[in-house]
Amino acid sequence: MAVTPAFIDELRNRLTLSDLVGRRVKLVPKGGRLAGLCPFHNEKTASFYVNDAEGFYHCFGCGANGDMISWLRETDGLEFIEAVRQLSEMAGLALPEDDHASNVAGQQRKATVDACEAAAGFFVSQLHTKKGAAALHYIRQRGLSDDVIFDFRLGYAPRGGLFAHLQQREFSTELIKSAGLVGVSDRDGSVYDYFRDRLIFPIEDPRGQVIGFGARALGEVKPKYLNSPESPSFVKKTVLYGWSRARKAARRGLPLMVVEGYMDVIAVSSSGVAAAVAPLGTALGEDQFRLLWKLSNDPVLCFDGDKAGQLAAQRAIERVLPLLEPGRSVRLAVLPEGQDPDDILRQKGPDGLRRILSAASGLLDSLWASKAADYHLDNPRTQAGAKAAFWQDMRGLVRSITHHQTRSAWADDLERRIAAMRGVTRAGGSNRSGQMIAVPLMRRPKTGRHVQIKALLALLIRTPALFSDYAEALAMLDFKDDGLDALKNALIDRLMNAPDLDAAALRHHLAIEGHAELLSQLFGTDMSARLGGLLGTMDTGEVTDARVRAVLDEMTERLARNNRRGL
Ligand code: UTP
Ligand code: MN
Repeated sequence: MAVTPAFIDELRNRLTLSDLVGRRVKLVPKGGRLAGLCPFHNEKTASFYVNDAEGFYHCFGCGANGDMISWLRETDGLEFIEAVRQLSEMAGLALPEDDHASNVAGQQRKATVDACEAAAGFFVSQLHTKKGAAALHYIRQRGLSDDVIFDFRLGYAPRGGLFAHLQQREFSTELIKSAGLVGVSDRDGSVYDYFRDRLIFPIEDPRGQVIGFGARALGEVKPKYLNSPESPSFVKKTVLYGWSRARKAARRGLPLMVVEGYMDVIAVSSSGVAAAVAPLGTALGEDQFRLLWKLSNDPVLCFDGDKAGQLAAQRAIERVLPLLEPGRSVRLAVLPEGQDPDDILRQKGPDGLRRILSAASGLLDSLWASKAADYHLDNPRTQAGAKAAFWQDMRGLVRSITHHQTRSAWADDLERRIAAMRGVTRAGGSNRSGQMIAVPLMRRPKTGRHVQIKALLALLIRTPALFSDYAEALAMLDFKDDGLDALKNALIDRLMNAPDLDAAALRHHLAIEGHAELLSQLFGTDMSARLGGLLGTMDTGEVTDARVRAVLDEMTERLARNNRRGL
């Protein structure tokens, strides 16, 4: 398709961006522009602006910006050409003459979709016949409601009948073959239905059109799941099962989970806990990460807690690193060994799944923990050289991040952890460096928690002698608050270099490093009065790693004790 810049300009002239944006975002005049709540990040005050004169939008909160075409690509997940097509229709313009090759490919694709849609209709109708009764019984017994069965267009492929059905509807044999709906016998060249006696999961493209199928055996037949063969219109590594439904749920603000199986997508989506998608039996690839990020800044990838699952998680992290950017990350959740999200929902209900989600850890945390396990750093007899090799490995991985600022932020974070590990070793005493702990991901602190973190920092600054015992735990904590995190890091850096600083000198150094304001809050009379009581209530329940929690509990208890003694 030849879409020229002149044609795009013509679209811009004829259409008004705020009309398009206004369908999704309530826009009100503000400072001579139209403003609204940004649809690309969560916010309470409007920082999203539309400039009709220039034809672009911009968010001062998250930096999202673009024109009509990027708007449709980002919010509706359309491809460039689909966005242009939709805008042309709105503008009442005919698309410019298609060039021959893409026209043929486009028509081929459309014909395949038509055949797949017709097949999906056939499978759905078969589910409600006598032949499909066993399949229907099976999914109902697995807890799927009729609404869910309808919504996901689940169906039943009988032992035969699809080929004849499609021929009757005047689809050519060639097309039916190329859509992967039938196979041809090597022996006698006869044509047979590809899916036989299986439960059918139609797989849709981002627009909700069927492009292929997953099919589950109902008995002990192998393979358990059979997928449509690859074709130019069905490329597995570019597709995520459940994406178009997940888009709706993600818009309502639900977190996005990436699970392994079809049944998991259905179970998670219908639980209302999260939006869910799954790759089609392959590892996640670049196109799929990009699809995920259209719906969420930090989708949660779920992996089995067994060895294979952990290896898969590590591979996924390594593949995602080069793609990271601000607003494009992932989190990782570890499932109990041998259980999938569908099992968890059935055994533990929605709360069980929520617990898994809230225990998901950030990327660096996960990578650190799993690599540390590879180097057996939790074994006290591991050679010192292993630590250095581990650090080198981690640094190499961080270097694979292409986005410059993201890479340097990661590198800083990594070096801090390494320094903390070194520092603890150097300080001698209880050697905690062996504890390669998965780091707790603290949620955005509620006010109470905020104050508790401040109390913790205030006490550490008052009693620097305690620092060396908790340096590592402290380095790994993410307070999710720029000021507090900066102060924490400055504290670590300072005490690493000069472990013998006394409290007054430490405060002085931190103040001249730009933390004066926060320090005066931490040492104001208000805070001092509240310190003792607050520490007693420091909530470590949210911290999911038992070992880290133990350290924190011990630290708060000890600090509280010292505080009571007036240290
Ligand atoms: P599982 O074997 O874990 O099945 O495969 P499941 O999703 O838990 O299914 P139920 O609960 O037994 O019905 C997970 C995913 O791996 C792919 C499918 O995408 C499946 O959903 N898979 C599995 C295949 O592609 N082929 C297979 O033979 C098995
Ligand atoms: Mn399952």
